Amino acid sequence: MRVLSGIQPSGRLHIGNYFGMMRSMIGWQERSDLFCFVVNLHALTSLTDGKTLAANTLEAARDFMALGLDPERATFWVQGDVAEHCELTWILHNHTSMGLLERSHSYKDKAARRETPHHGLFSYPVLMAADILLYQADLVPVGKDQKQHLEITRDIAGTFNNVYGKVFTLPAAVIDPMLATVPGTDGQKMSKSYGNAIDIFTDKPALKKRVMSIVTDARAVEDVKDPDSCNLFAIYSLFLDGDGGLELRDRYLKPGLKYGEVKKELVEKIWDFFAPYREKREELMSRESYVRDVLAEGAGKARAVASVTMEMVRERTGLKY
Ligand code: ADP
Ligand code: TRP
Repeated sequence: MRVLSGIQPSGRLHIGNYFGMMRSMIGWQERSDLFCFVVNLHALTSLTDGKTLAANTLEAARDFMALGLDPERATFWVQGDVAEHCELTWILHNHTSMGLLERSHSYKDKAARRETPHHGLFSYPVLMAADILLYQADLVPVGKDQKQHLEITRDIAGTFNNVYGKVFTLPAAVIDPMLATVPGTDGQKMSKSYGNAIDIFTDKPALKKRVMSIVTDARAVEDVKDPDSCNLFAIYSLFLDGDGGLELRDRYLKPGLKYGEVKKELVEKIWDFFAPYREKREELMSRESYVRDVLAEGAGKARAVASVTMEMVRERTGLKY
């Protein structure tokens, strides 16, 4: 079973990335043939500062390793180091209807935030389809926001297979319904680009500031609170087991709960939860050449698989003559 997913190095990693995708990826390495990569080509759609992209790419790779991604078990690389991603993207463009991309929520959303949307944003799902199809992935664990991109990938793969005979495996998205969307401090989806994220690796005063800024309703201390509509409750629950979640719910349903106190507890929870990973991260920070070696070796392993698919694609399409 091949499982594959990627993460953008567009900014610092946050707890939405961790609970929405990274933790499940790290779990998959125990029980599948895991392919995991840092999608720096996709990050070009939003980042135009070269130094920042380069630094973020290395940081995302290192942080993923600090959180438990084991390059001995998984194939772990940087997307832009394997040229086949771009090559397949061009070929797939010719099997992607304009309407399919025009219906993309993510494109509409991103286009609305810019004065002049560029073609990279429009074509983003095709590059993502190439990422997935190149490695014949069976399963792709992602957050709910990526569901439509997987549908687009299947559509493109199906169209291509209809024209040239079966070349690509149709992948399925894996979305944990419990963790579909982690809310940010303002209650919207937590995202690097919305200024509402709680970063995984940050110093304690900064963590405290972020947690204290979580928006809650205006109910008074003596009022009973509603856990199901509370953003703070949703975030806190990520760090609790079943019993812990029930206990917290109980506290919400009794008068006397102070949001400020719950926030202070949450700071400690988050800080302790990531403590072992922080240590590992410190260690990796002092071993940059090791991280670079891991990525170079990973790119070699990825290329070996990608080139088998590309050989078949070139034959079927007539690019091989
Ligand atoms: P961001 O929106 O912060 O730029 P990315 O687009 O790089 O995050 O997402 C990387 C992975 O993390 C994807 O699989 C995405 O679905 C998941 N993810 C991002 N934000 C969240 C969130 N708030 N809740 C759940 N999963 C998320
Ligand atoms: N689009 C994904 C995101 O923003 C990142 C991504 C790129 C990806 N290529 C992928 C995810 C391939 C899974 C598989 O989160």
